[in-house]
Amino acid sequence: MRLSPRLALNNGVMMDRLGFGLYKVPPADAAGLVTMALETGYRHVDTAAMYGNETGVGKGVGALSAFAGGSGEPAGSLTRQDVFVTTKVWNDDHGYDATLRAFDASMSNLGLEYLDLYLIHWPCEKRGLFTQTYRAMETLYREGRVRAIGVANFQPRHLDRLLETAEVVPAVNQIELHPWLQQAELREMHAALDILTEAWSPLGRGRALTDPVILALGAEHERTPAQIVLRWHLQLGNLAIPKASSSGRLRENRGIFDFELSATDLADIAALECGLRTGSHPDNVN
Ligand SMILES: NC(=O)c1ccc[n+]([C@@H]2O[C@H](COP(=O)([O-])OP(=O)(O)OC[C@H]3O[C@@H](n4cnc5c(N)ncnc54)[C@H](OP(=O)(O)O)[C@@H]3O)[C@@H](O)[C@H]2O)c1
Repeated sequence: MRLSPRLALNNGVMMDRLGFGLYKVPPADAAGLVTMALETGYRHVDTAAMYGNETGVGKGVGALSAFAGGSGEPAGSLTRQDVFVTTKVWNDDHGYDATLRAFDASMSNLGLEYLDLYLIHWPCEKRGLFTQTYRAMETLYREGRVRAIGVANFQPRHLDRLLETAEVVPAVNQIELHPWLQQAELREMHAALDILTEAWSPLGRGRALTDPVILALGAEHERTPAQIVLRWHLQLGNLAIPKASSSGRLRENRGIFDFELSATDLADIAALECGLRTGSHPDNVN
């Protein structure tokens, strides 16, 4: 099975399946790590206002002309259009006007002319504002300031509620997803609605890499546990945004396009589902 490195969003915008996630990356390290990721061949970075590192991420993306691209391009051959940048509106900024202000603050931090993907970080159901937050994102989308809009941590009932009033179907729902939490119901719903599933903590914060089934598959395929898990994400049709802190791991995590898991391998991983979350449940974030 030959998998393209990119997927089309429901509005035709292309997005790399594998991105670099920057949660818990200290602000002072973000620019250097983004540059390292771009040098390694990544073309998709995932940050959030809450991570406090948007400024560094923007510097890393802005330094595009200063390095040689990972696919052998000469220095300076990458442009802004070659990199897909995601950020997210934080919980305290829900509501129409607050979201527009939060977007301006994020763009000022990033130092970019436009954003590729803007997400609602958490639905924060008890605040009761996510439909208004999303309406502000639709405004930004129509104005061309962002190429695509979507959500994160939305449960089925949140998507149902959003779609009662939304005029633009979210392009993605970014959710915790790894071999121990496979989110079958949401993935099915996304497929029916033409929403891409984006996996956060795709390695289960690194913990899923010690699972005996993953280790055994790694030995069988002569791949590392991270490569097995990330290949599994690709074959499910997910976008995945693993975080890593060294060029060795960044490179390792991209080595997933030249092998294939069999139907039996996929069934073995499917059997690992146990509902284990490494992060918060959306019902508990408000
Ligand atoms: N929307 C949301 O609410 C939400 C929530 C959480 C995360 N996210 C996004 O998802 C991204 C990824 O999630 P995450 O950072 O929580 O977890 P993750 O990507 O599943 O795991 C990251 C951990 O795995 C380790 N690791 C990475 N590659 C490895 C390899 N090849 N071998 C062994 N260990 C490896 C990393 O270590 P080192 O760093 O030490 O290399 C780090 O400790 C975040 O950075 C963020 O962008 C979104």
